Amino acid sequence: MAERRVRTWLKHIGADIRESTDASLLAALRLVGLLYGRIDRNLPIDEALRRAWSRRLPSHVGWKHAFGGIAYLLFMVLIASGVLLSFYYRPSVDEAYHSIQYIATEVPFGWLLRDLHVWSANLIVLALMAHMARVFFAGAYKPPRETSWLVGVLLLFGVLAFGATGYLLPWDQWAYWTTTEVMDVARSAPLIGGAAASFLTGDVFVSGATLSRFFALHVIVLPWIVFGLLVLHFVVVRKHGAAPPAGFQERAGGGVPFFPNHLLRIVIASALVLAVAISLAALFPRPIGDPATPFEVPGELVSTWIVVDVSLGLIRHLGVWGFIGFSALGMLLVLLPLVDRGSAVRFRRRPVAAAIGLVFFLGFLVFWALGSRVDSVTPSAGVEARILEERAVPLPSTPEASDPSEVEATAAEAIEEGSGE
Ligand code: HEM
Repeated sequence: MAERRVRTWLKHIGADIRESTDASLLAALRLVGLLYGRIDRNLPIDEALRRAWSRRLPSHVGWKHAFGGIAYLLFMVLIASGVLLSFYYRPSVDEAYHSIQYIATEVPFGWLLRDLHVWSANLIVLALMAHMARVFFAGAYKPPRETSWLVGVLLLFGVLAFGATGYLLPWDQWAYWTTTEVMDVARSAPLIGGAAASFLTGDVFVSGATLSRFFALHVIVLPWIVFGLLVLHFVVVRKHGAAPPAGFQERAGGGVPFFPNHLLRIVIASALVLAVAISLAALFPRPIGDPATPFEVPGELVSTWIVVDVSLGLIRHLGVWGFIGFSALGMLLVLLPLVDRGSAVRFRRRPVAAAIGLVFFLGFLVFWALGSRVDSVTPSAGVEARILEERAVPLPSTPEASDPSEVEATAAEAIEEGSGE
């Protein structure tokens, strides 16, 4: 039974992906000057554009359908501000921290650029949660839209990976030790935890090698993956159209034009979100901690990303098992289209799914609120001893290295070696 469901599900996804990559997608190549000749002549691009502009949406589409567009706008803001930041940012142990300070204090409007990037990275998570909740409560994860949902989930992971890799780049104490703790947890995870942590760290501890890898993932690998997923997401969403609410019947000749009606909604909502992001960037700049010092565990860690806030809220109030339980709930949501495939959209006809969704989305808000009230946390107990031991750096109290400057020199050497420079 379950096997048949998985097979049907995979068949649907396969069909969606095949359709979304048909020859008409090649038209994009013409725009960048890479396509001439026969295929080009056979592709009526003008006609396609005309049809796109005159497209009509079902009349139930409204403001709540703007969240996807808002997430897209924030993603574009992140790409644009990220490209400009990369003109000045230097991904090396010696220069990363100073280049961030230079951007924040010397580059004209560099502070705005940087904080807009940081705030957009926070707001996009909220926009995605709102988008996901809207889609979930509309029952739009059910067939035939399971590919849209699945690709959406991959997009969410892509955006989270952007945030996690970007978190280390300022190379301050908070970034360094938060990443160290996360890698530590990853290493202890069963099955692929150790291999994944080694691959990401590129070393036995977070070092210059890790910074290079995170930078490459952040600016080269992830943008390509997320762009590809976005194209796929838009094509399948377009193919199936917006999911209708329960009992909805479109009148003959009904619906609203995409242009200008719905596009205007998206532009207004996006302008508001942009205004909020710029105001937050100007009013609440992201503080910079002390420069990363791999042989000195800081007294406190400050969170600068909403996902870290939520995790802190969960771990502080429910413990590590609370965090694991919440992640498991998220995984249940991800896999929901596999089991909840009926046509029922009303809550009372899908009570279990509705309960899972309510607990997850409300939980996210509650633990975000609780986590953001935690000003700073001390690094987990034992991290200092364990990490220093791993690095084979003698602790100051050991007879081999009682002189602290000697310890510093040894550790600095270890970091240099790790940086691969
Ligand atoms: C960068 C990330 C994302 C962007 C830019 C994006 C964008 C969009 C847009 C513009 C739409 C059409 C309008 C709307 O319904 O809001 C849409 C629809 C949809 N999205 Fe996303 N999305 C993203 C992530 C996600 C995630 C995380 C999920 C769920 C896990 C998801 C699932 C869906 C589904 C199922 C639809 C169809 C909704 C319907 O038929 O009513 N998307 N997306």
